Amino acid sequence: MDIPGPEPRADGGAGAVAAAGGLHVYQLRLHAEYGPVVRFQLPGADTAVSVADPVLLEATAHVDKRPEPLFAFLAPLFEAGNVQVMPADEHTPWRRLLLSVLAGRPSHERHFARFTELVTELADRWAERAGQGPVELQKDLTALSLRMICAYALGGEAEDPDRVVDAFEEVLTEHLGRLYQAPLPGSREERAERAAEALAYLRAVVDRVVAAHRSGDRADRIIEAGERPARIRDTVMVAMLAAHHTTGLAVSWTLHLLGRHPEAAGRVAEELDRVLGDRAAPEYADLRRLTYLERVLKEAMRLYPPGPYGARETTEALVLGDYEIPAGTTVFYPFWAVHMNPDHWPEPERFMPERFTPEETAKRPRLAYIPFGLGPRGCEGAALAMVEAELVLAVLLKRLRFRPVPGHEVTPVERFVLWAADDIRMTVSPRT
Ligand code: HEM
Repeated sequence: MDIPGPEPRADGGAGAVAAAGGLHVYQLRLHAEYGPVVRFQLPGADTAVSVADPVLLEATAHVDKRPEPLFAFLAPLFEAGNVQVMPADEHTPWRRLLLSVLAGRPSHERHFARFTELVTELADRWAERAGQGPVELQKDLTALSLRMICAYALGGEAEDPDRVVDAFEEVLTEHLGRLYQAPLPGSREERAERAAEALAYLRAVVDRVVAAHRSGDRADRIIEAGERPARIRDTVMVAMLAAHHTTGLAVSWTLHLLGRHPEAAGRVAEELDRVLGDRAAPEYADLRRLTYLERVLKEAMRLYPPGPYGARETTEALVLGDYEIPAGTTVFYPFWAVHMNPDHWPEPERFMPERFTPEETAKRPRLAYIPFGLGPRGCEGAALAMVEAELVLAVLLKRLRFRPVPGHEVTPVERFVLWAADDIRMTVSPRT
């Protein structure tokens, strides 16, 4: 059977993606119109098959290859190669290393005190600003995530985190823009120059992080892995890239949703008062008692998955329900459309943290909820990200109340991550 989808166009699909407002919105439209399996033109990949059904996704879950052309826009960031597109045999040892560094509970616990200091500094800063106009959640929280990953995986401090975040933004916007042939402000030369400067700055930061580490006596993590220098620099870059937006965005979107659902915000505050008492921050062991907070975070990542899509390339023919796809097919993972699939998420647009009670979760197929992707290329930072995000939310929401700014529109746009176009501005005030 032929897989349904829109008629091919001469522009390779760039026009349809741009007309929808980005790949994040286009995936929702495609699946609403054509059903759970759709063939479409994906810029950079010729055609791709998108799968929004969690049961059909199982048939792809073992695939251990990403389509290289789709990630080519990130290539300038790396010297020896991007871990995201390495062949399976080379990738597997890196995955093991990344998991050993990022997924160990004891090491999350060891870094918890430093994480708490970092988020407390931000809470202090925001508390001082109360009454002096809104704060920009996305800007400050992505910088906080960058500080956290540097403290955790690189054993050091991030220099000028705001500038590092801006530099990533500059590089990604320019290179993604080229992929989609999107109209961007400024002349092509000006943009290319700015992106090149931003990239040079990022490289220099990574080099300084690695050098500082080598000259110090800290026995730490990725850099200790004994790999050749170019690989280490690349892995530091990928860790900084993969960790800095995503966790900050997960927290930003959660606060955005709580601002629009005061009754849920009230329940979070009650839970924090009950579990923490007079303490301003949780201990590591408290996190698992913050069950409602965790449901809220999960529901926020369902509605606004920080990484809204992924992709694989099949290495053998696969059967997807009624369809067979050959080896070499690009499989698009529309994480957002999977999370909005009405077969598994009644009233998918509604914010309902109760969807994540153990009973409700047990009713759904395993891959109905995949904010961290799936299979051998799924996110190695998932466990760390959950610890970070829950801690940050707990500290901020114990102390502060967040309210939407009237008239400020929050619009998700695609920057490889699900970014808010004009940040998420909120008014902050002390809770008591
Ligand atoms: C809420 C926070 C985060 C979200 C939502 C997130 C989401 C994702 C997603 C969707 C992918 C692609 C998975 C796939 O293709 O199946 C991914 C990959 C990855 N993430 Fe995360 N991530 C988060 C935080 C982190 C953190 C803190 C790190 C730490 C360094 C990290 C490291 C990585 C790496 C290294 C990859 C590439 C995986 C590979 O190719 O082996 N992520 N992440």
